[in-house]
Amino acid sequence: MDVSARLVIATNNPGKLREFRELLDGCGFELVTPGELGVPFDPLETGSTFEENATLKAVAAMRATGCIALADDSGLEVDALDGRPGVHSARYAGPGRLDAALSDEDRVRVVLDELRGVPEGRRTARFRCVIAIATPDGEVRTVAGVFEGRIGDAPRGEHGFGYDPVFVVPELGMTSAELPPAQKNAMSHRGQAALKAREILRQISDGYPTT
Ligand code: IMP
Repeated sequence: MDVSARLVIATNNPGKLREFRELLDGCGFELVTPGELGVPFDPLETGSTFEENATLKAVAAMRATGCIALADDSGLEVDALDGRPGVHSARYAGPGRLDAALSDEDRVRVVLDELRGVPEGRRTARFRCVIAIATPDGEVRTVAGVFEGRIGDAPRGEHGFGYDPVFVVPELGMTSAELPPAQKNAMSHRGQAALKAREILRQISDGYPTT
């Protein structure tokens, strides 16, 4: 297959990759990871916004592989924690502390501990996702999605990844880890951003001007 028909999904996160395989099914590109192409991929996320980090990951993957690359930078913003863990969601270990060695379960516990005693009405939160698509001509386009909810009292559910077991979807009264994957994807920050990304991919594959 022509390398231009490949879309590199610039992530090492198996949960994200699983969701992208569903969300981008039938998009006209063969989804591959840097690892599957034998390319090491571990860029430093030095940006201070989701958009900056998504862009730097997409550009790094595009340069390393020569292919069109798609990166997601995402995270959880908790209002009672002044928006933390935010861009640091993947490594959050508490206020001002980052630790890449923590597990998803550890990070969930950190957030629940910080919210101990905070009543339900003040546990509002949202997942944000920015997707960047970088093409070999040097262009980068970004799209975003937001998923509003609140943080529950204890983990519930077996699906998803990351903070899903404590992210309650208010209209359903279920966590996003209790939702079947297709139902989470239909509502989620990543699902919304991926719908917009599919449109960009359609324009790219139609030969829509990218310069
Ligand atoms: P990133 O790789 O820097 O974008 O890290 C994103 C982090 O945000 C993940 O490791 C999760 O901790 C969290 N996160 C993002 N999206 C989701 C989601 O859909 N469910 C649960 N946690 C998420």
